[in-house]
Amino acid sequence: MRESNLLIKITRPEDPELQSKARWFAGQPGINSYLSLAETKSGLQNEAFHESRSEVPILHITRKGTYLLTDEESLTFHPSMALLRLMQIIRGEEDRFLKAVALEEGDTFLDGTLGLGTDALIAAFQVGDRGKVIGVEYSSVLAAIVKDGLNNLALGKFPPVKNPKKREAWQKLGEASPRINIRWGSHYEILAQMPSQSVDVVYFDPMFRRTREESASIRPLQEISYQEPISLNTIEEAKRVARKRIVLKERKFSKEFDRLGFTIEDGGKYSHIDYGIIQLKGSVM
Ligand SMILES: C[S@@+](CC[C@H](N)C(=O)[O-])C[C@H]1O[C@@H](n2cnc3c(N)ncnc32)[C@H](O)[C@@H]1O
Repeated sequence: MRESNLLIKITRPEDPELQSKARWFAGQPGINSYLSLAETKSGLQNEAFHESRSEVPILHITRKGTYLLTDEESLTFHPSMALLRLMQIIRGEEDRFLKAVALEEGDTFLDGTLGLGTDALIAAFQVGDRGKVIGVEYSSVLAAIVKDGLNNLALGKFPPVKNPKKREAWQKLGEASPRINIRWGSHYEILAQMPSQSVDVVYFDPMFRRTREESASIRPLQEISYQEPISLNTIEEAKRVARKRIVLKERKFSKEFDRLGFTIEDGGKYSHIDYGIIQLKGSVM
């Protein structure tokens, strides 16, 4: 699992809310932050400090939100894709992810590749009040940014919207977010520590197969995410921990499905991705 060296910068050092957010980020597991709150009070010192560590990503904490600036990209938590998908689901449209994971109310879902948390939010909506989602992320800074974003959603911090359908979707995201428990670490290690048959569905949406051009929403993750293929040992652990099924999202025609033992049940005709499934013995399809 990847620790993150960060420069934490608050735009208004005198603002106690921003100070406490900076402290919260500095205290998250796997975050090694370099900027003390006192240092931010002196612009001069701050600049010198900044320059001496220009290779370190900067976490900007502002009144408008928190974002991470790396060499090339800016990354922030924004549930826009989850919101769009949720509106479609509420309208009764099919969501291929939900079809593949086949979650039922009250289920426990483990997302082994949390990323920006879009799929985890959709899963958390689907499992309802009695359900649970565990989101595992290798990058500590990403885990912290998503955790902070979900906390804000749970507090009802979303933009004012006139459209009642959109407002309803924001509210549903707000209700779903506290059901997600984020864990920083490698999915193999976290699965290996879990009791057998302790979740219903395990899901993987790995990163390494994507290219920069392919997905604008995932591009900001390139620099900080973990991009190695899923190991066979991980799938063995997932088979032990899951009761119902394991699902892998991959590029259409990817050899990963075969290598890891997944079957494609319902390939999307016009989509460039597919969902592979390992149905576990004893579970009903
Ligand atoms: C393509 S993104 C997932 C996007 C996610 N499904 C969403 O809806 O936002 C893959 C994420 O999985 C993480 N990841 C890759 N391998 C991992 C591993 N072995 N353990 C934990 N996280 C991993 C990457 O760091 C990256 O953030």
